[in-house]
Amino acid sequence: MRLGFLASHGGSNMQAILDGCAQGSIDATPALLVCNNPKAGALDRAAKSGMPAQILNGKTHPDPPALDTAILKALRDTQVDLVILAGYMKKIGPQLLSSYQNRILNIHPALLPKFGGQGMFGMHVHEAVVASGETESGATVHLINEVYDEGPILAQARVPVHTDDTPETLQLRVLAQEHKLYPATIAKIASGQIQLP
Ligand code: GRF
Repeated sequence: MRLGFLASHGGSNMQAILDGCAQGSIDATPALLVCNNPKAGALDRAAKSGMPAQILNGKTHPDPPALDTAILKALRDTQVDLVILAGYMKKIGPQLLSSYQNRILNIHPALLPKFGGQGMFGMHVHEAVVASGETESGATVHLINEVYDEGPILAQARVPVHTDDTPETLQLRVLAQEHKLYPATIAKIASGQIQLP
């Protein structure tokens, strides 16, 4: 199984998956990083691990359908089987979505279906969870479909929310779980233990 990553920022989840592949706990080959942000830390991580990367964004392709085509071509040219969204802040184009139907994974830093949807990304999610008084949060790995954060859920990890938590302390607790949950879920897909539709 060949993995293609889409990332915009630090790429710590991508790193956890690269580590899993290198250590043999994930039976898959990291094939390509597609990144929209030339300053993303994910690009350094890809370079260090020897994984090819391409910068594709609104500057390289001002026309959105052309950008969609270019991203799809890059993934196909490197024979990617499974697309891993790892902190990717851009919308997935319709061509990529239909060509890789049920083969695009995302991780969301809350227990979907709660705290998902428009505007629920990054620290906004943890702010909303802390403000709501919930006693539990976590991370969700799910398939991507046309509606943000609404594709089928594949796995979740739970963490407590403490009464003295700030969005920042909660984020750290959730992120530590993300780094276990995402590689473990991909390992199960690669081994056939989780079968995608
Ligand atoms: C994570 O919190 C993830 O849940 C969300 O974006 C963040 C990515 O962080 N989708 P990183 O780039 O993997 O460090």
